[in-house]
Order: sequence, then structure tokens, then C-alpha cells
Amino acid sequence: MTTPAAAPLIAPSMLAADFGHLEESLNKVSNADWIHVDIMDGHFVPNISFGPDIAKTANQITDQPLDLHLMITSPEKWVDQFIAAGADSITFHVEAMPDKSAVVELARYLRSQGCRAAVSIKPGTAVEDYLDILPELDMVLVMSVEPGFGGQSFMEDQLAKVVTLRQAIDSQGLDTLIEIDGGISAQTIEKAAAAGVDMFVAGSAVFGTPDPAATVQELRDLATAARN
Ligand code: DX5
Ligand code: ZN
Repeated sequence: MTTPAAAPLIAPSMLAADFGHLEESLNKVSNADWIHVDIMDGHFVPNISFGPDIAKTANQITDQPLDLHLMITSPEKWVDQFIAAGADSITFHVEAMPDKSAVVELARYLRSQGCRAAVSIKPGTAVEDYLDILPELDMVLVMSVEPGFGGQSFMEDQLAKVVTLRQAIDSQGLDTLIEIDGGISAQTIEKAAAAGVDMFVAGSAVFGTPDPAATVQELRDLATAARN
């Protein structure tokens, strides 16, 4: 039923890393596919995380590509700084943009700068309005918690959006990835994988265990089995 990307991609969220020992933390997940980097501005979401300087530090520490998740207003004002910091992919929220044409414009700008372009939708946002712009996007991030904090419970009802996206992407013959973020763990990843997710963000489930690398591999194995 689903034909997602070749192999499931696991992206540990740096938000749950030990910032007192960031290098050690990131080195523990050197078997991950991407590093997910959450940027929060205290305005788009009720929390503040960090900015381009820390993203740049992460880029210097790790060999993995950086998957930046901008939970900020006016993302267009900041993307140049995050690209300069080493972002390989930038996800911005459609709710932070005035209209769909602005979403397309920013996605095109990111691609013109050699950065992958992705958009995210909050739990209360419908995905249907964006199916016609999928060719402009390298990835769509479905939030499975309200953005702002790690460690929240997985919202299973968000998987309906994944199914809708999977059908739209496959029927249009696109290679746009579907990412999910929030509450992903060994208990929830199989359902997300079966719905058609390609890339899985996991924060507390990875960094909250004694052996984060083993957890990355466990999540990958569970997702692989659930898609077959
Ligand atoms: C939440 C962030 C997530 C967060 C996920 O707003 O976008 O990336 O770090 O954390 P867990 O995996 O603990 O739900
Ligand atoms: Zn995130």
C-alpha cells in the first residue's frame, strides 16, 4: 500500500541532548541518519532553545547532515544565517507564513541556496491545502505533538495526514519525504512507519536511554519491519 523512501531515516533531536557535553552526546548517535535541530523563538512557540551559533557548533561536531526545524516567526529573515551555520535541510512552519505563495517562495529560495526545503504543519493544520505544492518540497514534517517541548505524548490521530501525504506523493510520482516529530519511541514508531513515514525524529526516546546508538538502531529496525 505504501511506497516510502528506500530505508527509514532516524533523526535524533538535539533538544534532548546534554548541552553540557554536546560533543559527547552527539558522538553517541553517530549511527543516525540526520541530526534534528529544533530552533524555538519564544514567540511562534512558548519556549526558547538556541540559535545559529549552536547549530554551527553542532555542524562542527557531527558528520551527519543537519535537519533544522525552525519554530520561529518570519523564518525568511533567518534562513541565510542557518544555511551559513551548516543546515542541509530547513523546515519552516506554514503557520508562520502569510499565505501559500510565500511558502512556495521561501521553499524555492532554500533550494536556490543548495538547501533542502521542507515545511511543517502543526496538529491543528490540515494538510490538504498543501498537496498541490509538494513538487516544491523535499520534505513535509507532520507534527505529532504541539511544537515547543520534547517529551510529550504521541498524537496518533496525526497519522491520517501521513496517509494522505503518502498517497499524494506516490500518485504524483514524487520523492518528497514525510517526516514525523513528537513522541516517537519504540512504542509508537511502527504505527508511523506503517502509515508511510520516511524520517523519524526522536528526542527523549534516544537521548534518555543509556545507549543512544542502540536505540537508534532499534528504532530503525522496528520501522523497517513495520513498512515491509
Ligand atoms: C518539539 C520538537 C521535537 C522534540 C521531540 O517541538 O520539534 O523535535 O525535540 O522530542 P520527543 O521525541 O521527546 O517528543
Ligand atoms: Zn522538531
